[in-house]
Amino acid sequence: MTPPTEESRKRTPTDYIFGKVLGEGSFSTVYLAKDVHTGKEFAIKVLEKSHIIREKKTEYVMREKEVLRILGNSCPYFVRLFWTFQDRDRLYFVLSYAKNGDILTQIDNRKTFTIHCARYYAAELLLGIEFLHDKGIIHRDLKPENLLFDENWHLLITDLGSAKILSSEKPEADKSKTRRNSFVGTAQFVSPEMLTDSQSSFESDLWAFGCILFQMVCGEMPFRGGSEYLVFQKILKLEYAFPEGFDECAKDLVESLLVIEPGKRLGAADERRYSSIRQHEFFSGRNFDDLGPPPKLG
Ligand code: ADE
Repeated sequence: MTPPTEESRKRTPTDYIFGKVLGEGSFSTVYLAKDVHTGKEFAIKVLEKSHIIREKKTEYVMREKEVLRILGNSCPYFVRLFWTFQDRDRLYFVLSYAKNGDILTQIDNRKTFTIHCARYYAAELLLGIEFLHDKGIIHRDLKPENLLFDENWHLLITDLGSAKILSSEKPEADKSKTRRNSFVGTAQFVSPEMLTDSQSSFESDLWAFGCILFQMVCGEMPFRGGSEYLVFQKILKLEYAFPEGFDECAKDLVESLLVIEPGKRLGAADERRYSSIRQHEFFSGRNFDDLGPPPKLG
C-alpha cells in the first residue's frame, strides 16, 4: 500500500496550534490555527456535534461541506476547504485564512469605500457570484460580514452554510429554477421573494449584490429598521433612499438590481455570465478578464 501524501494525510486537532477566535456563528466558532509542521496559518471552523444535532442543523453543515467541495480551488474568490476531520465531540473544517478581516469592518472603519474601491470589489464579487451560479449554486446569505480579504486584499466569499445547490450538472438550463425554503439569510439583505413566498433563486443573490454595492458606496445598508419586522416591511415596499452625493452610475446600477420582481433584475435575463451587469456604465472601462491589483482601501 502506498503511504498517503502530505496532501491526503488525515489531519487531527494535534496537527494545529489553535489561536484567537476569528468569528462566531450560531453553531460554529472559527479559530486562527497554525499547522505545527509547516507554520502555515488556516482558519478552522469548529462545530460541536451535539449542538448541531440538537438544533437540527446537520443538513446545513453537510451542505456547506458539499458546496466547498464543488468549488474546490477553482475560483480565487471563495475560501477554500483544505481538509475536514473530527474527533468524538467536534467537526473541523480547515479553511483558507483571510488575514485582512471582513468588508463590513473595513467599511465601518472608513465609513464608506471610495467609488474606485467599491467598483473594484463589486467587480470581484460579481466574478465570484458568476462562478457560483455557473455551478448551479445560490449563496443565499451574501452580506459584507461574509466577504473577507485575503493577505493580498482580494475578496474571499465565505459562509456557504445557507447555500442551495440547484443543479451541479446543467446550471444553464436551471437558471430560472427556484426553491421553496424556510427563511435563510440575514434580514437586511434578504430578497422580497424570500419573504413573500419563501422562494429563492439566483436573482436573490443579485438583490444582495445590490444591497452590498449600496453599502460599499455610502456606508449604510439600504433597508434599516429597529426590528427585523420593520426591515422586512421596508424591503417589501422597496422603501429606501440614496443619501446626497451618492455616485450617479452606482445609483443606476443599484436601482436596476433592487427590483421587487426577481426576473426583472439586471442580469436575470442574461444567457451567460452577468454580461448586462458587466456592461453597466458603473463598470465602464473595467476589464473583467483582468481586474488588476486591488486598490488601496480609502
Ligand atoms: N472569520 C470567519 N472565517 C474566516 C476566515 N476564513 N478567515 C479569517 N477570518 C474569518
